[in-house]
Amino acid sequence: MHDFLIPKDKSKEEKYRNIVSQIESLVENESNIISILSNISAAIHQTFKWLWVGFYIVKGDELILGPFQGPVACFRIKKGEGVCGKTWLLRKTIIVPDVEKFPGHIACSSQSRSEIVLPIFKNKKTYGVLDIDSEELNTFDSIDQQYLEVLVGIIERKLIDNS
Ligand code: SME
Repeated sequence: MHDFLIPKDKSKEEKYRNIVSQIESLVENESNIISILSNISAAIHQTFKWLWVGFYIVKGDELILGPFQGPVACFRIKKGEGVCGKTWLLRKTIIVPDVEKFPGHIACSSQSRSEIVLPIFKNKKTYGVLDIDSEELNTFDSIDQQYLEVLVGIIERKLIDNS
């Protein structure tokens, strides 16, 4: 295990490419999914310093708080509720440029201003979501979506390998 290295003064794309390659080698020999999700949330948080980076995992008819980095968050979210529950319902990534304009947004932290949530699938069913909150408006765009979907792909391969 070596230090997770964060390139300085690089573009967003370069930072993402760095996370993807380091995460790929970091998780190569690990099969415990909670440990993998923990280190992925840490790597994203350490790189971009966003307010909250973490996972909610489907259990029954709710999403339950999983590994994360950032302020204390809500334990449970119902299907269809908030950005996370809506991502579960719609099975697609949601980018929210201004959380105050998203009907039903769940404010775990009053500091959160914009958000991106991506679904994670296991055998075509939603396993959980990756949720990222920023303290600034309009933080996330299609570049974030593209690279975060690559990271979600790494997780989905691990979920299949371990099933
Ligand atoms: N804002 C999310 C809730 C989770 S927290 O942001 C960590 C939502 O509306 O689903």
